[in-house]
Amino acid sequence: MTNIAIMGLGVVGGAVCDALFKNAALYKRLCGGINVKYILDKRDFSGSPLADRVINDINVILKDKSVKVVAETMGGDRPAYDFSLACIKAGKSVVTSNKLVVEKHGAELERAARANGVSYLYEASVGGGIPVIRTLRDTLAVNSVTGVYGILNGTTNFILERMEECGESFSGALAEAQSLGYAERDPSADVEGFDAARKICILASCAFGGKYRMEDCAEIRGITGVTPQSVADAKALGYKIKLIAGAELSDNGVVLSVRPCAVRRENLLYAVSGVFNCICVKGDLVGETAYYGRGAGGLATASAVVSDIVEAVSSRPVPSAARKKLAVCKQKKTAETVTLGGVEYELV
Ligand code: HSE
Repeated sequence: MTNIAIMGLGVVGGAVCDALFKNAALYKRLCGGINVKYILDKRDFSGSPLADRVINDINVILKDKSVKVVAETMGGDRPAYDFSLACIKAGKSVVTSNKLVVEKHGAELERAARANGVSYLYEASVGGGIPVIRTLRDTLAVNSVTGVYGILNGTTNFILERMEECGESFSGALAEAQSLGYAERDPSADVEGFDAARKICILASCAFGGKYRMEDCAEIRGITGVTPQSVADAKALGYKIKLIAGAELSDNGVVLSVRPCAVRRENLLYAVSGVFNCICVKGDLVGETAYYGRGAGGLATASAVVSDIVEAVSSRPVPSAARKKLAVCKQKKTAETVTLGGVEYELV
């Protein structure tokens, strides 16, 4: 039985606890069992069945040598980054769903993990429960990847669909996404495209090697400018407007972008509905592949967090990546476009 700690008992942290209790017998068979020794959260959980494990001092975790793995499900930059680094330096593997920390500090945290002989794993930071990071890191590592693109933000996909199907207002659909636990604490990260940008940078880093950051993006445009008229025009022409993130290899380097596009009916992404995400990866050997599933929500994201916990408990530290970083290109390829509601959209 391995002792772990969870930092942050919100939507994802709570679901990780639920999963660990619900499937305890399965995890015992997979890796000898996982015991949640501490839950770090400054809020009051008295009355909760988990109350006896809740602590509010990170030092308790840092000093307890029996804690081997820490799941960071706090969200936000600090103190999540500081706590993760401190745990790694204390010889504990860290697994996280925090895309902000992975995009901003991932290079440093991975370096620190290697130096300390532990792992820093972040399957849950992109695509909720979709197993795409490990697929890129392991199974597709024998390919030269030429492109990664898709729908990486469940909240905006949910909002756009509600606007299209029910004529719901932008703000009404956003409130619904928030009540379902899909949206970020500050939902502007979703609707302005920053959440999808962080995720495509993380995927590009796994696919092409090195680290790509938000400032490497050629374009980050969210859905705040998508009007009901654009949505209606798209529908009349047989398209759907969707927020597409891409990391495409061009002659001059990797082009990273996030923008709303008009998606043709024949495109796989046309059918991606509600909170679901779909990530397409093109490799020189395998050709086109796609990974689909729930991109947000507690239990789906918990599936990825727990898979990283099991990996950290059972295996050796992750080896350094074999791929070398490619140059960034901020010049987007020219693409076919269509005008919807007076605005030009790329047609994909
Ligand atoms: N706000 C994010 C989304 C949560 O809607 O996709 C999952 O990263």
